[in-house]
Amino acid sequence: MKKIDLAEYKIDKRKLPQHIAIIMDGNGRWAKNRNLQRIAGHREGIESVRNIVESCGEIGISYLTLYTFSEENWNRPLNEIRKIMALLANHLESELPELNKDNVKVQFIGRLHKLSGGIRRKIQKMTETTKNNTGLCLTLAISYGGRSEIIDAVRKIIRAGVKRVTEKSFKKYLYTSDIPDPDFLIRTSGEQRISNFLLYQIAYTEIFVTPVLWPDFKTPELLRAICEYQQRTRRFGRT
Ligand code: IPE
Ligand code: IPE
Ligand code: MG
Repeated sequence: MKKIDLAEYKIDKRKLPQHIAIIMDGNGRWAKNRNLQRIAGHREGIESVRNIVESCGEIGISYLTLYTFSEENWNRPLNEIRKIMALLANHLESELPELNKDNVKVQFIGRLHKLSGGIRRKIQKMTETTKNNTGLCLTLAISYGGRSEIIDAVRKIIRAGVKRVTEKSFKKYLYTSDIPDPDFLIRTSGEQRISNFLLYQIAYTEIFVTPVLWPDFKTPELLRAICEYQQRTRRFGRT
């Protein structure tokens, strides 16, 4: 990949978001625009994943969280779910050497028990192999729902018999206990909604919606989004 020149995009290297989260939407529409089957869009979407992961690693983003498959996506036609899962299974395996070489630490959040044994094993292998890597921390949200994450946290608290809960202690029970809240949330393909992603964590996240469909979202689109992020004033309720 060509070396990224941040100055060309008027990006200040010292003010990068520490954590970027992305709702990768629009694969189906990308395929439809080309008279292709929806799965062709998902396949092309993987190219964007690879590109964005590489770019984030190169420019020095610490955390990237990608919404890969939602709990509600289980309500899609079985045929599409099967094809998405097959793609996932293939790529969890084929991308591992490159991710590891790039020092990426990969982790997974969501109700992973709903995934097949085969995929769970690949997830475990990827997590285990990359756990000591010190570069980009990549979190893939699969079978993920923001509401179920909160419910799962409450269940863990009840099971542990914990009586006193604070914002700080509650965070420890979320799937994202070991990562900071996102600074910047990007949603591709124009929909202005959260679709059950990281509900608790995005309380003060800057939101950016682009009409660009996920398979068309590559390094230049990412850099333009980061440039826009740097124009924002984050107030956190203060003046
Ligand atoms: C996002 O693309 C990928 C997943 C939700 C798995 P979509 O499949 O939602 O694409 P559109 O929204 O139909 O275009
Ligand atoms: C959100 O996209 C989920 C992922 C990107 C994985 P959807 O396409 O499922 O969201 P809705 O249905 O348009 O809200
Ligand atoms: Mg969609």
